[in-house]
Amino acid sequence: MDVTRVSENVYSIGVLNPNVRISDVIVPTECGTTYNSYLIKGEKNILIDVTHPRFFDEYIENVRSVVDPSKIDYVIMNHNEPDHSGSLEKLLEVAPQAQVLSSTAGCIYLRNILNKKDGYRAVKEGETLDIGGGKELRFMMAPFLHWPDTMFTYFAAEKMIFTCDFLGAHYCEPRMIDKYIDNLGQYEKCFKTYFSAIFGPFKPYVLKGLEKLNSVEADIVCPSHGPILTKGNQLERSKELIKEWSQPETHNKKYIPIFFCSAYGYTTHLAEKISEGIKSVIADADVEIMNVNEHPLDELAGKINNNDAFLLGSPTINKNAVPPIWNLLSTVDVINIKGRHASAFGSFGWSGEAVPMLLDQLKMMKLNVFESGYTVRFVPTKEDDQAAFDFGKRFAQQL
Ligand code: FEO
Repeated sequence: MDVTRVSENVYSIGVLNPNVRISDVIVPTECGTTYNSYLIKGEKNILIDVTHPRFFDEYIENVRSVVDPSKIDYVIMNHNEPDHSGSLEKLLEVAPQAQVLSSTAGCIYLRNILNKKDGYRAVKEGETLDIGGGKELRFMMAPFLHWPDTMFTYFAAEKMIFTCDFLGAHYCEPRMIDKYIDNLGQYEKCFKTYFSAIFGPFKPYVLKGLEKLNSVEADIVCPSHGPILTKGNQLERSKELIKEWSQPETHNKKYIPIFFCSAYGYTTHLAEKISEGIKSVIADADVEIMNVNEHPLDELAGKINNNDAFLLGSPTINKNAVPPIWNLLSTVDVINIKGRHASAFGSFGWSGEAVPMLLDQLKMMKLNVFESGYTVRFVPTKEDDQAAFDFGKRFAQQL
């Protein structure tokens, strides 16, 4: 990537990865991504965030095009997920005198990322770093944006803030500043996908992060994925969008989604009977029955994380629940959903492992698992229908 000069002393020196289509194993990146890193050049030379381990060679060339790495004084790690910290070990080989600064949690992670006990300095909320020329950087803790270690680094002299994942996007265009984005519609689509995948579980922290961001004068926001956001271009809209997406959802009625897959319609039938049982107890409950194969995963992810209780239905295939149900479970926000009422059901032919496996997984995720689920061998009889109805009824009675 060409180095981009963001201001007189600040350079964007990260790496483009336009061809990647999945990040962090599960996050779609249909427009690729970038691993941004920034260099403040001056009396002190400071790197902010590093880059993905696969791109060190390209990265260090970018660094060298602006400064001799042996002249780097500080490396500030706003967040230490390896897409940002993975090249740090190699960087420190060519910048041995650089001091690494991160949050307290960040320093703990670094010990196991670099497999080295010391060499890091933990900074605290509000602490400042004198970078010479009468300028300073200020550290602002921003936990869970996106890991507990995250912090922002504010550069008041340039009205600039470095936020790592926060306000980022998996989006790759060669010119790193929002005013040059060629396809704004596509960028906003990727911005939303990224937000849902990375920050969906941390919405209360997003609102706190926004407050923190708005507490300082920042005309330029430098994230660590996607374009830099600037006042008068995309910055205000991006802040508005994530504020809107982070509002707590309110349901006037109890919302109880039933997610299922069905090979021959028998598990679908059970879903309907269980729903009738629930409604016999909570007449105005919003019970939404959804075939997981007929809805996009991000829509389902929103619904499995925002409800009063939920149920999963799966047939058993190859002694297992079916992949779309496991995929859906991989979107569950285990931090905020702890204690939620949930259970599973399904029709099976031979051995019926799907429901007990799903229940074990729900228990591991610390949900409040109801009974032993409900299963039927092959085609539900009238008695099975009644039992499914009663299962739904008992499930609703405990809500
Ligand atoms: Fe881009 Fe949470 O790392």
